[in-house]
Amino acid sequence: MATVLDYATFDKGRHQLTLGIRAIPMAAWIEPDDRTVRQLNEKTRLLAERHADVFDALDGSEAAQAECLAYLRANLLTHHPGHPGLAVPVTGAAPLDLAGRMVQEDLLLMERREAGWVLIAASLCFPARWRLSDKIGKPMAGIHEPVPGFNDRLARPVDRFFDQVSPEQPYLRANWSVIDDPTLFQPTGHGRGLHDASITPANAPDRLHVRVERQTFVSLPQCRVLVFGIKTIVDPITILDPHPALAASLAATIRDMPDDMARYKSMAPFRDALLGYLDGVSS
Ligand code: HEM
Repeated sequence: MATVLDYATFDKGRHQLTLGIRAIPMAAWIEPDDRTVRQLNEKTRLLAERHADVFDALDGSEAAQAECLAYLRANLLTHHPGHPGLAVPVTGAAPLDLAGRMVQEDLLLMERREAGWVLIAASLCFPARWRLSDKIGKPMAGIHEPVPGFNDRLARPVDRFFDQVSPEQPYLRANWSVIDDPTLFQPTGHGRGLHDASITPANAPDRLHVRVERQTFVSLPQCRVLVFGIKTIVDPITILDPHPALAASLAATIRDMPDDMARYKSMAPFRDALLGYLDGVSS
C-alpha cells in the first residue's frame, strides 16, 4: 500500500526549496494502489458535478491530449494490465478528460512556448489549494507566483530540467504538507494566517493529516508536450506514531521553515499544536 511515508521528503530535518527530482522506470510512471478505485470514483463524481472546476484545455491542445490518452492506455496495458482505468471508454469527452478518469493521477499538459513551459490542458480533480482557472495558459513563473522563493531559485532550473526531459525517461519528485482537512478536492486555503485554538496537541491525531503529492514528468514522443502527473496521498498524522525519527525530522523542518513559506503553507492555524504533538511522538 502506498502511503505518505513512501514520499516523505521532510526526512532531512531542514526546509529546502529544491528541484528534488529522480529518474524512475517507465513501469513506475503510474502507481496504482489500494486507493485507486475510491479515487477514480471521486474523480467521476467531481467531473459530473463541477466539470468546469476540474477540467480545462486551451484550443489547439487536442492533438497533445489525444497523444496523452493513447500513451497512457499503452502504458497501462504494458505495465498494469489489470488496471480498472482500462475499462474507461476512449471516446465521448475530450481525450485528456477521458485519460484523467483512467488513473488516480491528475494529468496536466505543459507545452514549450516562447514564454517558457505553459499549462495548456489539465484534468485536475485533487488540487492542493489552487484553482485551475487561475493557472491555465500561464508559464511556470506565473503559475508559481504565490510560492515564496520559487521564481528566484527554482524557475530557471525547472525550465532547464523540462527542456531536457526525453520520452524514454520519466522523473519523480514529491511535495508535502500538513493539513486540517483531508478532502482531496481543495481549490482554496493557501496563506491562512489565523490561529485555530480548537486544534491542540491532544486532538491533533484526529484533526491533522499529512498530504503528499507524488509528482511525475514524462515527455510525449510525438508532440514533445510534457505530462505532469500528480498522485495525491492523504494519511492521518498518526501514521508517524511508529516513526519517532521521522516525526522529529518533520518538526525540525517546520521549525526551519522561513515565515513566508510557513504562511504560504497555512501552518499558522495549528503550528504549535502540530509541533507539540510531533515532539510528543519523537521524545
Ligand atoms: C520540477 C518541477 C516543479 C517544481 C520544483 C515545483 C515546485 C513547487 C513548490 C515548491 C511549490 C510549493 C508547494 C508547497 O510547498 O506547498 C509548488 C506549488 C505549485 N506548483 Fe509546482 N513545481 C514544479 C512543477 C509544476 C508544474 C509542471 C506545475 C503545472 C501546473 C506546477 C504547479 C504548481 C501549482 C499550481 C502550485 C500551487 C501554487 C499556488 O499556491 O497558487 N508545478 N510547486
